[in-house]
Amino acid sequence: MNQGFTLWFTGLSGAGKTTVSQLVEKELRSRGLNVEVLDGDVVRTNLSKGLGFSKEDRDINIRRIGFVCKLLSRNGVAAIASAISPYREIRDEVRRENGRFVEVFVKCPLETLVERDVKGLYKKAIAGEIANFTGVSDPYEEPLSPEVVLESDKEAPQESAGKVLAKLEELGYVPAKRSKQAYSAEEEQQVTKRLKGLGYI
Ligand code: ADX
Repeated sequence: MNQGFTLWFTGLSGAGKTTVSQLVEKELRSRGLNVEVLDGDVVRTNLSKGLGFSKEDRDINIRRIGFVCKLLSRNGVAAIASAISPYREIRDEVRRENGRFVEVFVKCPLETLVERDVKGLYKKAIAGEIANFTGVSDPYEEPLSPEVVLESDKEAPQESAGKVLAKLEELGYVPAKRSKQAYSAEEEQQVTKRLKGLGYI
């Protein structure tokens, strides 16, 4: 269980990648895992500072994030990436490089994103004030077989985070959360006996 993995959130701007990844991050920490998050908006202020939004620059950005995730995950860290990562080929390249790779597609119809327009960027992009804006004037290639699909226009963020955690448990990357009541009386007795034997109680 001490092995890391890369949890990769992809989807349009404003779809909810950051929100859900933060909830998952919190839950994984509470389960005792070492977690790091690489969020596109943050990475672009340091590791990828100076890069723009041409295909070339986006590819560099994604390869950098993927590389850091690889370094982290091979050292037992749960590495969470959250970036639009619009090109399938580069995501698949990162998948091949990283081994334990879980792709989460945060799906949301463009109309909903334009309506929400949390950062006010869609309005500008539609008005032609931002060039190459993903979903408006630049492509987004949906994943063909992501491990998880979240529908952020239909699910609450908590529900989406729950789906991600369930997949991580199913894959055996994260230990299942078991509440005290989930133990049978017999198991409870065994644990008590063991702890007594070790002198803890
Ligand atoms: S990626 O394509 O290289 O994966 P990344 O996730 O790092 O993108 O950054 C996306 C964020 O940059 C968006 O959420 C938005 O805030 C901002 N942004 C600025 N210009 C653009 C653009 N042309 N296309 C998409 N996002 C943009």
